[in-house]
Amino acid sequence: MAQEIFDKVNALIAEIKAAEPKTKEEVEQFRIKYLGSKNVIKPIFGEIKNIPNERKKEFGQLVNEAKQSAEAAFQQGVDALENAQADETLANIDLSAPAEPMNLGSHHPISVTMNKIIDIFERIGFMVEEEREIEDDWHNFTAMNTPEDHPARDMQDTYYLKDSTENLLRTHTSSVQARCMTRQEPPIRIIAPGRVYRNETISARSHCQFHQVEGLYIGEGVSFADMKQTLLYFAQEMYGADTKIRLRPSYFPFTEPSAEMDVYWGLKDEVDHRITKGTGWLEILGCGMVDPQVLENCGIDSSKYSGFAFGMGIERQAMLKYRISDIRLLFENDVRFLKQFKSAF
Ligand code: DAH
Repeated sequence: MAQEIFDKVNALIAEIKAAEPKTKEEVEQFRIKYLGSKNVIKPIFGEIKNIPNERKKEFGQLVNEAKQSAEAAFQQGVDALENAQADETLANIDLSAPAEPMNLGSHHPISVTMNKIIDIFERIGFMVEEEREIEDDWHNFTAMNTPEDHPARDMQDTYYLKDSTENLLRTHTSSVQARCMTRQEPPIRIIAPGRVYRNETISARSHCQFHQVEGLYIGEGVSFADMKQTLLYFAQEMYGADTKIRLRPSYFPFTEPSAEMDVYWGLKDEVDHRITKGTGWLEILGCGMVDPQVLENCGIDSSKYSGFAFGMGIERQAMLKYRISDIRLLFENDVRFLKQFKSAF
């Protein structure tokens, strides 16, 4: 009697292993028969009472094997179905269909403007120098001839690092001049693009962070005329071949003589009147002959070498070019704003 039941379970296991359900229907039928609530394995567990004690353990293991085989065969069927479905999806992909449009990024208007300026100066032999934004007082101010009591040093304008009177966020890229002159022998011919910081109230016209490009040329016999010609070349490459410039006397602690350069913007419409205050001239940069004291501060023999320097803001030039009326837009990084410059390069 007991042996008969054993034979029955063995036959069931063989049946389960041979079943190999493949189609959706076969898999479902298999599940109902062997794993469903009224499956054929369940009642066999009840037969245990008819099995002699010494074979009860063996019987239990055999019925469990039947159950596990059913579960494994069912899972195999499900997996095979899923694979077949994936294959079918792949086979149905239309490889000749046009691709989904890719969302391309765009260059930031500040980068576009800065790269254009870099490009122009690289063509006439200026090398790009990138330097630290966290500077020390000496490179930002002292070396650049800015005396201790100069208003630019005022805590109001300069961000000092916490608990420091020494380390600060550079207020201008002129600090790169000091970095280069102390580490390099003339001739030096560099431009230094980068971000600068000033503790200013944020408004449509000014921001606490902005960008500058600094220029420095030190060599033997470098003259004011060289500077004027270099800057005229820059203005005409940047704003068009017939661009006119003018140099107005000015003051900077690190240059002597110093000047500010205007380009002739014209007075074509009302906006031009407003941005040039009715003169047609627009200030673009500060410049001058490097003060001999600055050369000496940085260990360069001022009786042998001379040079010129200039520094310009990027935001204003980008705002003019792209007719952006509020500087804050340049720092908020709203994609709806940035997207508009996709065609700018
Ligand atoms: N550093 C000045 C500023 O932040 C700009 C400047 C003026 C740079 C004259 C120069 C220069 O190199 O010669 O406003």
